[in-house]
Amino acid sequence: MRTQVAIIGGGPSGLLLSQILHLKGIQSVVLERKSRNYVLGRIRAGVLEQGLVDMLHVVKVGKRMEKEGQIHHGFDIAFQGKRHQIDLTALTNGKSVMVYGQTEVTRDLYEARDQMNGVVIDEVDDVSLHKLDTATPFVTYKKAGENFRLDCDFVAGCDGFHGVSRGSIPSHILKEYEKVYPFGWLGVLSETPPVSHELIYNQSDKGFALCSMRNANLSRYYVQCSLEEDVNNWSDDRFWEELKSRLPKETAETLITGPSIEKSIAPLRSFVAEPLSYGRLFLAGDAAHIVPPTGAKGLNLAASDIHYLSEAFIEFYGTGRETKLSQYSDTALKRIWKAMRFSWWMTMLLHHFPENEGFGDRMQQTDLEYLFSSKAAQTSLAENYVGLPY
Ligand code: FAD
Ligand code: DHB
Repeated sequence: MRTQVAIIGGGPSGLLLSQILHLKGIQSVVLERKSRNYVLGRIRAGVLEQGLVDMLHVVKVGKRMEKEGQIHHGFDIAFQGKRHQIDLTALTNGKSVMVYGQTEVTRDLYEARDQMNGVVIDEVDDVSLHKLDTATPFVTYKKAGENFRLDCDFVAGCDGFHGVSRGSIPSHILKEYEKVYPFGWLGVLSETPPVSHELIYNQSDKGFALCSMRNANLSRYYVQCSLEEDVNNWSDDRFWEELKSRLPKETAETLITGPSIEKSIAPLRSFVAEPLSYGRLFLAGDAAHIVPPTGAKGLNLAASDIHYLSEAFIEFYGTGRETKLSQYSDTALKRIWKAMRFSWWMTMLLHHFPENEGFGDRMQQTDLEYLFSSKAAQTSLAENYVGLPY
């Protein structure tokens, strides 16, 4: 089989790229390791920046989001029992974010790909990338025990943190930067009305907690937990008690609890690989970088990578020029590092660091007090949260 762009990974990055390329008349084939049901069962991000919302509209997958997504004009930060509102719209000259789950975005992208007869091959094994430093790269893989070869002009590595693409760049070329945080997030999804109409990021002595949502009867809550925690030791009752103990009293009193429909633990890390390209291979999304979830940037950063990468492919197939392809890594990394900084800062601001006692605690407290007292500090937070320009 032959295509123009072989896309490894059928998560949001890979699907979005194949949808954009299709609309520009560029062929692609998506190879996904898991089944479609598995991919659609993953509960991940919930907050979309305007840039991603606009992209989804442009590529004709914005209809359901327009109907079911919720526009949020602000969020709260709770500290020492008091909630402080960050008015995103007032601080950013009218910008906002969209609350619409990554699961729904992925479902909409799969539907659009199906309608346009896009080729997404799932449940593939042993994907391997070959001759990336030549003009004739190819990909081999197995499906149902049979071997296949996919010839292409380019390979887009959209296969997440544990994929094969990043490891296909020779180690003497690839540089990796990493910070692992000494805690994770225990997340629960429940069919209950959210405790507040806006998100609440809670700093407390017992650790961070986040009150988020998917819709008027679907709530998403997280509590900071130790890396040693086993999700099986967390009954629903234990989770709700822990969450309540980290919220301001009046908020805890109005929390409606119910059975969880999903419960999982995710570790927190910051990670960047440089460069994002090697010969005919281009990395995008979690294959290239991971942010801690605190700033809600993971999915949004994947979208801005795909914006730059698709522009580069469109330039190449439209004009034969490789200018944007050769600049892709540098261009995308500039925005990636800014989102890294913001996610790291939000994480440091709001979590309990076991080793922080004393000076570190006072710095965190002062950072929060400064934030609530300074419009300049809030403006900086707001412009990063709604998303820096592409
Ligand atoms: P992925 O979504 O990881 O997609 C990559 C795809 O490649 C997967 O479908 C995978 O099965 C496939 N793949 C992997 N290896 C291979 C292979 N060898 N061959 C073929 N296919 C392969 N972000 C937030 O903003 N907020 C959150 O609350 C949040 N929670 C998260 C929770 C978890 C557990 C994780 C892992 C991430 C979370 N993120 C969150 C981050 C966000 O979900 C990601 O940034 C986003 O999914 C990136 O999309 P992607 O398509 O680049 O990668
Ligand atoms: C969600 C996750 C986040 O990391 C965040 O900052 C906001 C919302 C969520 O899953 O709803």
